[in-house]
Amino acid sequence: PSDVGILGIELVFPSLFVDQTELEQFDGVSAGKYTVGLGQDRMGFCTDREDINSLCLTVVSNLMKRYDVKPKDIGRLEVGTETIIDKSKSVKSVLMQLFEPHGVTDLEGIDTTNACYGGTAALFNAINWVESSNYDGRLALVVCGDIAVYAKGSARPTGGAGAIAMLVGPNAPLVFDRGVRSIYMKHAYDFYKPDLSSEYPTVDGKLSIQCYLSALDNCYRLYHQKYQRLHPNATVIGLNQFDALIFHTPYCKLVQKSLARISLNDFLLTSDSQKRKELYPTFYEKYDSIKLEDTYFDRDVEKIFMDYSKGTFNEKTKPSLLLANQVGNMYTPSVYSGLVSLLISADADVSKLNGRHVGVFSYGSGLASTMYSISITSDSSKLQSLLDKLSYVKPLLEQRTKISPEQFTSLMETRAHNSHRTNYEPSGDVSMLFPGTYYLKFVDDMHRRTYEKR
Ligand code: ACO
Repeated sequence: PSDVGILGIELVFPSLFVDQTELEQFDGVSAGKYTVGLGQDRMGFCTDREDINSLCLTVVSNLMKRYDVKPKDIGRLEVGTETIIDKSKSVKSVLMQLFEPHGVTDLEGIDTTNACYGGTAALFNAINWVESSNYDGRLALVVCGDIAVYAKGSARPTGGAGAIAMLVGPNAPLVFDRGVRSIYMKHAYDFYKPDLSSEYPTVDGKLSIQCYLSALDNCYRLYHQKYQRLHPNATVIGLNQFDALIFHTPYCKLVQKSLARISLNDFLLTSDSQKRKELYPTFYEKYDSIKLEDTYFDRDVEKIFMDYSKGTFNEKTKPSLLLANQVGNMYTPSVYSGLVSLLISADADVSKLNGRHVGVFSYGSGLASTMYSISITSDSSKLQSLLDKLSYVKPLLEQRTKISPEQFTSLMETRAHNSHRTNYEPSGDVSMLFPGTYYLKFVDDMHRRTYEKR
């Protein structure tokens, strides 16, 4: 099969949010820390009525309805998540409730977990399957979802929640480029969830930023090498080869720093000193001998390259940050919410996206990371139908309900106290959920969960 990639994409986010300016006041931090310092305006969150199973049930059922896909059309179902409830039982097995009644049980794929990277791993499994000898002509469905909640403290404003489902198959409008996927994995304790009784992670915030940026350096350089090997005569390389760059987004400010980081890499990869002088006339001498590993928290270098890449950031990356800014870090769906934001930034005008080349950086703590790229089709009608199907996203963001920081904190406590209770009927208000949302009805004495649909 050719042009393998994403045929359809569906997103869900919580119907409730907390305003980050109000959260700054409530937390007693200086005004601007979350909104300017982290770049976050609103944070979506779920009451105890929603869990990872309900989010994934909602997104899959919404996608199948919107794209008129029947259970028998799907041959592979993959889930990427780091929100674990039943430990040995997969979210995929819960999603089978949408397929079994239609006699569909021949469905390969299972859950994949490594922090925010599981969604990308699941997506690669699906792409690989379509390109493999086992492909049977049906489509793959990739689901990524998470509820990102942190204990009270500096990490809490970087939470979020959501789920994304993607239909994968041949002749797609969003085609995965072959031969350039670049991986960087290593062992790190930057963010993990060792306390299985709690939804909250253990985080070394500073180390997680360093790990993220060093993963970006490594993935970008490898991508660069692979691209050059495939296109030995390419004249446009580096940042300029991409029309857009999307990133896993723990918070928007880190993404702006990441784009600056790529421009720092381009600077260091420009080995010809004359060319360096031409391209970077104001600072080529000062930073001639800097080493990447010394610069993760170097304020001067950061500022110079943030300033240098500001125009590129505004043009190529800022449009992909709408959902991250409005909902927060969704973990596994985060980078794909960047893709949705980029697509809806065109306001259904295909000419803004036709034939464009998009770089993607996916990161999951612990750590696993990838840079790869997507070529958007030049076939306007294929692209138009994809964009039209995303027209619900912006209006839905505005239909959410704002909750005060006091009430948000109390709802977080309810989640924390009850996350593993049995004989439990959640107390979250069902009427506040968007219509069509699956919600947790009851957890019985054997921890078995039942769901209903609003
Ligand atoms: N106005 C404007 N900016 C401000 C203000 C203010 N009043 N106050 C602080 N800031 C800036 C700071 O200068 C800093 O920006 P800088 O790094 O560009 O200088 C930023 O706001 C954040 O302030 P810090 O003091 O660095 O924040 P803190 O250390 O309290 O927490 C952190 C930030 C570490 C990111 C925390 O939220 C966290 O641990 N989050 C979870 C981990 C995470 O998301 N890691 C990223 C990769 S891993 C992953 O995806 C989970």
